Amino acid sequence: MKTIHLGNTPLEVSRIAYGCMGLGGSWERAESLNEQAKRDAVKAIRTALDEGINFFDHADIYRWGKSEEAFAAIWAEAPQLREKIVVQSKCGIVMQGARPESTVGQFDFSYEHITRSVEGSLKRLQTDYLDVLLLHRPDPLVEPEEVARAFDDLHSSGKVRYFGVSNHTAGQLRLLKKHLNQPLVANQLELSLLHLHLFDEGVVFNQEAMHGEGTLEYCRQHHITIQAWAPFKKGAVITGVTEPPSLAARDVACLITELAQAKGVNKEAIALAWLLKHPAQIQPIIGTTKPERIKAACEADQVELTRDEWYRLFIAGRGERMP
Ligand SMILES: NC(=O)c1ccc[n+]([C@@H]2O[C@H](COP(=O)([O-])OP(=O)(O)OC[C@H]3O[C@@H](n4cnc5c(N)ncnc54)[C@H](OP(=O)(O)O)[C@@H]3O)[C@@H](O)[C@H]2O)c1
Repeated sequence: MKTIHLGNTPLEVSRIAYGCMGLGGSWERAESLNEQAKRDAVKAIRTALDEGINFFDHADIYRWGKSEEAFAAIWAEAPQLREKIVVQSKCGIVMQGARPESTVGQFDFSYEHITRSVEGSLKRLQTDYLDVLLLHRPDPLVEPEEVARAFDDLHSSGKVRYFGVSNHTAGQLRLLKKHLNQPLVANQLELSLLHLHLFDEGVVFNQEAMHGEGTLEYCRQHHITIQAWAPFKKGAVITGVTEPPSLAARDVACLITELAQAKGVNKEAIALAWLLKHPAQIQPIIGTTKPERIKAACEADQVELTRDEWYRLFIAGRGERMP
């Protein structure tokens, strides 16, 4: 598997990452982690490692902490692995009822929440440090000075090596960067052939209702790696099935099938090769728990799309020709 540098850090990471949201069993808070979920997690992680993936994405909230807990089962089999892989987690989302006072789901970028969340992740992941910590979703009540203090303390105590964000706009990145002492190395955003806003905002600028503000370009300019979450849009990119049905989804899936047959590769590989072709060196975060789908996705590392193929897929996903 080819590698990229995360942001402008020396960290060499696989260009495809594994997202651990699907590990850990049930989303029910009351259900604790069971042995089957641990075995399934180890199987998925092993497959990802065998395919050359060295980057694993978590969040404190995934399955109420059970995804991180399940991941830790890998250390029992391979304790030497910790130094060889990159573990990323996220904080900042408070689930409804997670705290007595959180009567609704909300975001919290306070010093206390960020530092407490990291302590929880370290404990569940059974590790002394996170390689990367991301702020999960922008908190409108953010006080950047407080985030800076939390990041500095986590960094100086050796608990977190690098920091980044998720679902943040260029403006939100600019605000944080003005106050932070630690560089921001990643911005994790939803991006796939069926979720194209990030690419399309630069194409429709000054033509339609404008949305976005050059977030892709901002990240490229400042060496912030864009990580694409939901790169298969929960499988819809491959199956063409959405609810309600969408013509774009059907067209994307048909074209992917055609290209996969012509090149003799898996459909998943075509969907990811489309993201990998972008010069921003986007890192897709795949979320399937099925070993055969993990393998199929990693085949993308060997696929090179032409400019024409890339545009055909882009046009199928956006549902109309280029302006
Ligand atoms: N930053 C954020 O706000 C945010 C939000 C969501 C996710 N994430 C991260 O991004 C990762 C990936 O997100 P995701 O799970 O939504 O991504 P995805 O890879 O687009 O979708 C994977 C999901 O789709 C299902 N699926 C069905 N058919 C599939 C097919 N043919 N190929 C692939 N998957 C198929 C998978 O089920 P099976 O397991 O049965 O294959 C799995 O539940 C997560 O694990 C998490 O780490 C981040």
